[in-house]
Amino acid sequence: MGIQFDAAARTFTLSTRSTTYQMGLDHLDRLLHLYYGPAIGQGDLAAMYPPADRGFSPNHNADRERRGISPDVLPQEYTGCNTGDFRLSCLVVREENGAAGAEWRYASHSIQKGKYALTGLPAAHDEENDEAESLCIRMEDSVTGLALELLYGVFERQDIITRAARLVNGGSQTLRLEKAASMCLDLPFGRWDMIHFHGRHAMERRMERTPLMNAIQTVSSTRGASSHHHNPFVILCDRKANEEHGLCYGVMPVYSGSHRTDVEVDQNGLTRIVSGIHDERFSWQLAPGEAFTAPEVILACTENGLTALSQQYHRFIRHNVCRGEFRFARRPVLINNWEATYFDFDSDAIVRIAEKAAALGVEMLVLDDGWFGKRNDDNSGLGDWFVNEQKLPGGLSPLIERVNALGMKFGIWVEPEMVSEDSDLYRAHPDWALTLPGRAPVMSRNQMVLDMGRPDVVDYLTERLTDLLANNPIAYVKWDMNRNMTDVYSRVLPADRQGEAAHRYMLGVYKLLETLTTRFPHVLFEGCAGGGGRFDAGMLAYFTQIWCSDDTDAIERLVIQHGTSFGYPVSSMGAHVSACPNHQTGRTTPLWTRAVAAMAGTFGYELDLNKLSDEEAAQVKEQIAFFDKHYQLIQNGLYYRLTDPTEEERYAAWQFVDEEQGETLVNLVLTHPEANARPLHVWLRGLAPDALYRVESLDIHGCHAAPQAGLDLAMEGVGKVYSGSTLMRAGYTLPQLAGDYPSVQMYVKRV
Ligand code: DGJ
Repeated sequence: MGIQFDAAARTFTLSTRSTTYQMGLDHLDRLLHLYYGPAIGQGDLAAMYPPADRGFSPNHNADRERRGISPDVLPQEYTGCNTGDFRLSCLVVREENGAAGAEWRYASHSIQKGKYALTGLPAAHDEENDEAESLCIRMEDSVTGLALELLYGVFERQDIITRAARLVNGGSQTLRLEKAASMCLDLPFGRWDMIHFHGRHAMERRMERTPLMNAIQTVSSTRGASSHHHNPFVILCDRKANEEHGLCYGVMPVYSGSHRTDVEVDQNGLTRIVSGIHDERFSWQLAPGEAFTAPEVILACTENGLTALSQQYHRFIRHNVCRGEFRFARRPVLINNWEATYFDFDSDAIVRIAEKAAALGVEMLVLDDGWFGKRNDDNSGLGDWFVNEQKLPGGLSPLIERVNALGMKFGIWVEPEMVSEDSDLYRAHPDWALTLPGRAPVMSRNQMVLDMGRPDVVDYLTERLTDLLANNPIAYVKWDMNRNMTDVYSRVLPADRQGEAAHRYMLGVYKLLETLTTRFPHVLFEGCAGGGGRFDAGMLAYFTQIWCSDDTDAIERLVIQHGTSFGYPVSSMGAHVSACPNHQTGRTTPLWTRAVAAMAGTFGYELDLNKLSDEEAAQVKEQIAFFDKHYQLIQNGLYYRLTDPTEEERYAAWQFVDEEQGETLVNLVLTHPEANARPLHVWLRGLAPDALYRVESLDIHGCHAAPQAGLDLAMEGVGKVYSGSTLMRAGYTLPQLAGDYPSVQMYVKRV
């Protein structure tokens, strides 16, 4: 298990509980990728790649007599530059004379207990289990003196392998990186489908599955953020793979800026995945002795289908990516004032919302945008992180005291990386914004992006936010980011280093977050970028939860949260019950169904509870009590998708099962009522087949129309005992729901 180097065979083998990853050195000391997949035993894998003389696939000078051995055909661990491998490359490096070339040769390696860390970048950790081992393989290019350190983190029990790459200039000239990917993964055989998660603002991470073309397909963002549009997470799976069966691979960059994952099927049918920072407008100058670290990528593999792959990522993100006390702690049910008031509030209005919320069992009030500077709409004030005393007389303290007196915690919204043109900060420091010389800056939400690559900007924000958090009892911070990056030009970088600005921005953000989360370990930080515009593993290293989407419509959320669930755990998905008609779609859904959808996330409210009828207010109380009762199961349980809402139009269903298979909660929302409908039949998943389970409760929510036939029959099952295999194989027929968007929750417990 762990990491082994076989000196005779010259292979490196990384073993996790159920996977094997193998590399080997060839006759020229190049590092070939030999295998990644379900665990295998011994055998000479290099022999599986016999020489193949492909026309127009060139040979290394030393191999000119052996024309079958071509870098263009062999599976590579990390490509060089300009070496005769015409497939996707990991690296473009330029010498002072303009030449671009690098050819890796093995130099040394080291194996260590524990997980490597990356300077300045988020990376998985192993604080809890002490299970990880790290491998560093050092490759060198003799002409430039450039060294490549390939880093591998092997998490045996979690079944996860992480990768990263460090480029160190060991030569005497200044080198320029024009592309520096994090990793390359070659799958020499197999025909794959690719799953990725695309979207837009207020409709993030829609799952899409397509067979790979014999071409290059790319999932990327050039927005300076991981983006609403293409999430940095790609799955390759066997064409026959489904939720329960089939070989699946996941590639998840731990990075929040512009990213790029390319997948190429080559002339031999080999599939190559290259992932890392987007290289458009990227460059990085490496003076002698300097190093550049490419972000980490989390790899997972299973032969047990997509659910198993998702659960691997869920567990790993919760245990090994997220940090701090909130990973597993009970998080407060919150009320956020954004959709209740937008910018139009004062202390009394906020307290009125808090009072009602407290009476119904809500545990924290979050004050959203508009509490600072001159911020009465979204055209001004960003950057002026001083309390707007017209709205909040006497500052934050009196308001927080009033909220705390209700027995509630207090949370606050910030958007530190941005500046409004109409702000004191911009008037004092126009050079702090990213703007192109001689051009009017491109505007988005009437705001500009601060140059987070500047140490003085990071220092200013550190000081302002430290002041805010140190002087007020703030339990939670919602960290927003509401536009993408344009005009990428830093006033502090010389002309030939402007290609560094976008990545330096991310390093500045990570530094600020590292400082603040370390300084304030008892504050729960939630990420946000106009909803889920930066929902990625990099951000999850600082934020235990991220606002999933600005679309709070319960029915749309079913699709968004379904897509999100492929890579990210329920405990990371910010989800709230909001008002109806919904502010984004105009749709009306039952209050309980909105809660069922929000309970597939961190759960909270975002509406003026004072506007609810007494009956609705009573429902809120019931919802919080229900969530409280099942908190452990929902947040810490295993998540099973029972339907694909993009395919099954009639209803969406999902299930939580605790790790011990002792209890489960089945959730179903009717999304499309039908006349003379077929039965709603679900097959449960994840139970112990031989164990006996009792249907403890079956709650029908928001079924305003008379249920059709079958209600009585379905209710007859409540209190009855079934074996796990019966519930999974024969399944269970739920009540026949009718009307607009009713839902069902069925709780089943082992007897
Ligand atoms: C975008 C966020 O996603 C919303 O929840 C809200 O915080 C607004 N920004 C405030 O400007």
